[in-house]
Amino acid sequence: MNSNCNFCHGRGIIFESNLAVPCSCMQQKAILNRFKQSRLPKRMQNHTFENFNLSFYSRNCLDPVKKISYYESAQIALQAAKDFSASFKKNKNSDGLLFTGQVGSGKTFLACCIANYLLKENETVLFAVVPDLLDQIRSTYDSSRHIEYTEKDLVDTAREVPLLILDDLGAHNYTDWTKNKLYSILNYRLNYCLPTIITTNISLEELEEYLGERSTSRIFQMCRPYRLLVDMDIRIVLRQK
Ligand SMILES: Nc1ncnc2c1ncn2[C@@H]1O[C@H](COP(=O)(O)OP(=O)(O)OP(=O)(O)O)[C@@H](O)[C@H]1O
Ligand SMILES: [Mg+2]
Ligand SMILES: [Zn+2]
Repeated sequence: MNSNCNFCHGRGIIFESNLAVPCSCMQQKAILNRFKQSRLPKRMQNHTFENFNLSFYSRNCLDPVKKISYYESAQIALQAAKDFSASFKKNKNSDGLLFTGQVGSGKTFLACCIANYLLKENETVLFAVVPDLLDQIRSTYDSSRHIEYTEKDLVDTAREVPLLILDDLGAHNYTDWTKNKLYSILNYRLNYCLPTIITTNISLEELEEYLGERSTSRIFQMCRPYRLLVDMDIRIVLRQK
């Protein structure tokens, strides 16, 4: 229950034509309990559409493939993120988004903008950093630990949550086990038309090498790709300021 909830004001239930139904903040709370890292860290709570700064993206450098400027590419990705967020309230089965780009190009920032916007609108979102998510699922096997949730609890939640954000589906060492977990989550979401937002610094061409053909093919089917291009890691630009 969330006492700050604008919908139920902490009661956990709302009335829909005289029927008491659980407020969606309860569902979000269950997710926060289950996934240690799904609560966006304080710094990332400021990653909002209002704060997304387009001036990091050069108007002079050209995307060699699309022949548009880095600035225009970022503008298009930002607009896609905004459109997705605005339409998610009405349509829970729209296409997901795939943000690609090099290290420090704003991919996570943009994914957080969507999460923050929709959480404020009382939508249910799981923001999962891929390596952490896989670690947490793996740790359910460790019998020496006190386990609150089983692997099935975690995987089922990632499969079924209305919006899943997979941050940093990057160039990690994917074992057959991790590839299979990701596949089973992605395949489920594809079959039930549940949108997924993915950030990765692997190029579209290389994705298959890391994740295998089946997951990659599904990602292309369920997510529209957008590219964020920068001439310098934004972290370095910020450091130099
Ligand atoms: N458009 C933007 N406006 C303002 N700050 C930004 C923007 N893009 C990125 N930043 C800042 O730059 C830093 C790096 O951004 P971010 O974490 O989104 O990069 P990334 O593309 O996800 O990188 P990685 O591939 O390493 O995960 C962060 O501190 C973020 O706050
Ligand atoms: Mg990132
Ligand atoms: Zn509520």
